[in-house]
Amino acid sequence: MGSMERKILLGWGLTLVIAVFLPVYWLNEPHRMAVAREEFRQEAVRRGAELYSDHCASCHGDEGQGKTNVGPVLNSRSYLELYDDQAIRSATRDGRPNTLMAAYAQEEGGPLRESQIDDLVAFIRNWDETAPVLPTATPVIDAASLYARYCSGCHGPSGEGTGAVGLVLNSKGFLDRTDDAVLYQLIAQGRPEQGMPSFAGELSSGEINAVVALIRAWEATAPQAVLGGETLYARYCAFCHGADGEGAKNVPVVLNSQEFLVAYDDEYLQQVIAEGHQKMPPWGEERGGVLATEQIDALVAFLRAWETPRGRTEEAVGVPTYARTIGPLLTERCGACHGGTAGLTVTDYDSLMAGASSGAAVVPGEPEESRIVEVQRGEHYAQLSEVELDLLIEWIGNGASPEYLD
Ligand code: HEC
Ligand code: HEC
Ligand code: HEC
Ligand code: HEC
Repeated sequence: MGSMERKILLGWGLTLVIAVFLPVYWLNEPHRMAVAREEFRQEAVRRGAELYSDHCASCHGDEGQGKTNVGPVLNSRSYLELYDDQAIRSATRDGRPNTLMAAYAQEEGGPLRESQIDDLVAFIRNWDETAPVLPTATPVIDAASLYARYCSGCHGPSGEGTGAVGLVLNSKGFLDRTDDAVLYQLIAQGRPEQGMPSFAGELSSGEINAVVALIRAWEATAPQAVLGGETLYARYCAFCHGADGEGAKNVPVVLNSQEFLVAYDDEYLQQVIAEGHQKMPPWGEERGGVLATEQIDALVAFLRAWETPRGRTEEAVGVPTYARTIGPLLTERCGACHGGTAGLTVTDYDSLMAGASSGAAVVPGEPEESRIVEVQRGEHYAQLSEVELDLLIEWIGNGASPEYLD
């Protein structure tokens, strides 16, 4: 064969190969595209899951199940059927003005790129197949009998308190200060150490909500609180001044000292409590505080009762501890959003120290390296006061131990 013939043969051979394989390849193409698309989608879902856990779970729940009064359910059949991708995308991009739902697109001043928002949409959409069908009509819950059964023994039939629990739920001051999310949290988690049981196991979230609504309805008729001085002190003052008035490093006044109590008369005490004093916030109603005149009088009487020799003057100035100061402070201020299992959890010591997926929140001994301090120095959903932040900084500076050890 000459070289010409060889070339012609080779040409025919190649044509044959193309003629046979191209259709096979072409027939397979849709399948290959589908596989590639599915891989691409799963990648997006994986990235979306991480973004969700960092940015969304603290309000919408780890599994999109929602959190009462913090963020609505996203993982429900009816929600996912009602909203298309575009609706989810635009809620996430642009946020919802005047609600906790912020805009997440960088264009809108948020932290996320468009592609990350697409990943989040893919992640939320991925719930489609497993999303639970939530009951549309919630069964009627009889809040009054739940309250009578579970709460009135300790809190009194109308929240007026009992011999065992002096705390009055049915008071304007308490209800003013405590929004529904906090009430929900208090009832669900309780404060076991203080004697308030956790009801999360006993009551469903619908039942807890119904009890919250029942307590909220007292607001219209609630009398001004007539709490005793001791309860008022524990509630409003112990935070900064120590459980027994022993003071703290950032709160230099030792209330429970003979010198202090002898030096100041009742009138002066009433005035500083009502009007505040330098870093001490004003408490009187006229100054925007929560205490009525009779309550301030009750507090002064309580402080005055320390003026019997109890030998506390010599005691060392208190330091903030996790159990008495930092734990209750973070739970109260931050627990509504940081009390879950995704994102940062601050309501127990171990979780606080474990931090978030993005890193440690607390670096023992290094307040200035601690993200929790950094976040609180900027703008955040809830802001600690200057004195409270100082206590947190002091505690971290002291090593952030679960208990302060001398
Ligand atoms: C600080 C709490 C908070 C965070 C964090 C948050 N959301 Fe929201 N989100 C809300 C609230 C509250 C609403 C309801 C707003 C309203 O009343 O319209 C909402 C609404 C939505 C809606 C619309 C739901 C509906 O029923 O119309 C979507 C979708 C949504 N959020 C997605 C996200 C995603 C995705 C993230 C994370 C990037 C996120 N949210 C982070 C609080 C939050
Ligand atoms: C075994 C007694 C007991 C029972 C039962 C009980 N509580 Fe409490 N509750 C307490 C005590 C004690 C406190 C005070 C905790 C503290 O000092 O922080 C408290 C505190 C509270 C607070 C927080 C007030 C604050 O300090 O901000 C709320 C709200 C509350 N209870 C609601 C309820 C509701 C609603 C029920 C029923 C579902 C209930 N409690 C059942 C003992 C009880
Ligand atoms: C956020 C922390 C904080 C809380 C809460 C707080 N205080 Fe103070 N208090 C301070 C600080 C700081 C000072 C020292 C103020 C100063 O620089 O003179 C102070 C000072 C005082 C003084 C002494 C004022 C003087 O002239 O020396 C009294 C009395 C007092 N507080 C009572 C109370 C009572 C009662 C409560 C509860 C209703 C309360 N404080 C709650 C931070 C607090
Ligand atoms: C209304 C809900 C809400 C409240 C209340 C709240 N936070 Fe947050 N916090 C968030 C959300 C949402 C994020 C995640 C921010 C984002 O989208 O990147 C966050 C993030 C943080 C982070 C950063 C975690 C990380 O990823 O490194 C810290 C630290 C923090 N919060 C501390 C606090 C403290 C301390 C308080 C109480 C004084 C508090 N937060 C109260 C919603 C809240």
